[in-house]
Amino acid sequence: HVAVLDFGSQYTQLIVRRVRELGYFAKLYAIEEFPDIGKPGAIILSGGPKSTSEVDAPDLDFEALKAFNVPVLGVCYGMQLLNIKFGGTVQASDRREYGPANLFPAECIGLYEGVSASSQVWMSHSDTVKVLPDGAKVIASNQHGTPVSLQWNEQFFGIQYHPEVTHSHEGLQILKNFLDLSSNLLPFHIDDFKRELIDGIRETVGSRQVVCGVSGGVDSTVLAVLLKEAGVNVRAIFVDNGLLRKDEAQVVQENFRRIGVDIDTVDASERFLTALAGEGDPEKKRKIIGNMFIEVFWDAVGDAEMLAQGTLYPDVIESASNAKSKASVIKTHHNRVAKILELQAEGKVLEPLAELFKDEVRELGTALGIPEDILQRHPFPGPGLSVRCPGVVDKERLDIIRECDAIFIGKLKEHGWYDKVWQAYAGLIPVKTVGVKGDERSYEWATNLRAVVSEDAMTADWVELPPVILRETSHKILNEVKGINRVLYDISTKPPASIEWE
Ligand code: XMP
Repeated sequence: HVAVLDFGSQYTQLIVRRVRELGYFAKLYAIEEFPDIGKPGAIILSGGPKSTSEVDAPDLDFEALKAFNVPVLGVCYGMQLLNIKFGGTVQASDRREYGPANLFPAECIGLYEGVSASSQVWMSHSDTVKVLPDGAKVIASNQHGTPVSLQWNEQFFGIQYHPEVTHSHEGLQILKNFLDLSSNLLPFHIDDFKRELIDGIRETVGSRQVVCGVSGGVDSTVLAVLLKEAGVNVRAIFVDNGLLRKDEAQVVQENFRRIGVDIDTVDASERFLTALAGEGDPEKKRKIIGNMFIEVFWDAVGDAEMLAQGTLYPDVIESASNAKSKASVIKTHHNRVAKILELQAEGKVLEPLAELFKDEVRELGTALGIPEDILQRHPFPGPGLSVRCPGVVDKERLDIIRECDAIFIGKLKEHGWYDKVWQAYAGLIPVKTVGVKGDERSYEWATNLRAVVSEDAMTADWVELPPVILRETSHKILNEVKGINRVLYDISTKPPASIEWE
């Protein structure tokens, strides 16, 4: 396999994912686990948020690394650390280099075989290598002539940019070239992964009863079917938190009937909305919703022995409460609130999808025989419409969002664009502006339409929708939704914006 050592970059898991995409089995290791990483055929050191000069900068046993005698690639922090290990130096630069840069390979051979003489790569660092040790070669530079890729010897390679993000246009080719240096890699197929997951679930669960919360989204649906396939005694609970989209509860019930899993629906909308009343702080809202979910959920569960969640890797990395991860906290995830963490410590939480990205879950869903229309549903966040309603949430605002959203999604479907975008929704901008409706002055809120493409939710780009869709959506919303007199289209990429508004 390919061992990926995690120095805490936001992108580490993407490296794993790219390696799998190239058809090889990859595993992520916390740096503390090193050198206990089995018998890898290649090793990749990830980037990380620390500077090599900080006192508590993560380190690793270089002699042990060399002893593996397999190709090693250091990415960003990984490259800087290797340069120091070889006797070179790294310097803190006064400004952070973030975003696109040009890559100029010295020669289009080796790591750069088949890579263009100039292409875009994605940078995210503040330190740079300064002095190169004897024998080190610069194998690529950026547009300023600064070294961005080094080779120390036949075994060790380094790159300053992030080949794993799609903004590094030829990053996948570079990773492939690196992996081609290894003669000892295992192939990866989703069917093998499915079998591995099912066996793992059987082993962990034994004869215990597992309760899983389902939302009707791809993740929890795949989770429920996976449990069913593993022959687990499963009970699926669907909580209506009052933050759902229009008609969502009915659609979810119908979909689960189709896949043959029974669900218990708990209508807790009153409880959630009461708990949220008057709260405007995004993090507090998330905590309230997360805690209320657990409360309602455990009321409904009684005394089940285990809980299964459809947590995905991006959820894990984005709240960084994973003890292994060193990534910085961006926002608290619904699946990572205190009560769940407690249960986790007791070994009562099962998260079989936690290593996967969204599109891998879809692939797994296909391998499990789940109908495509269910698998192609857009992702919907656990905290629901709350994160699309900045500030205070109440029924009036939610109803407005529901209407706007149903109109927008309806138009996307009508024009054949629903499956072309990764996620789309209408949210509320609770700011009143002046307009005219009929012959009268109106003073109402605005709705924001958002449609993005993404591969993994870590980065996203807004979609250039055909103007006719925007025009028809706007026209219908302005005519039919009371309380809205303005429709805006959100043209922000992630980063720096996120997909949701909170
Ligand atoms: P952001 O807004 O962070 O969203 O760019 C990335 C993706 O994650 C979804 N999302 C969530 N999903 N619980 C979830 O299950 C959450 O708390 C949560 N927050 C965001 C969001 O819809 C998008 O697909």
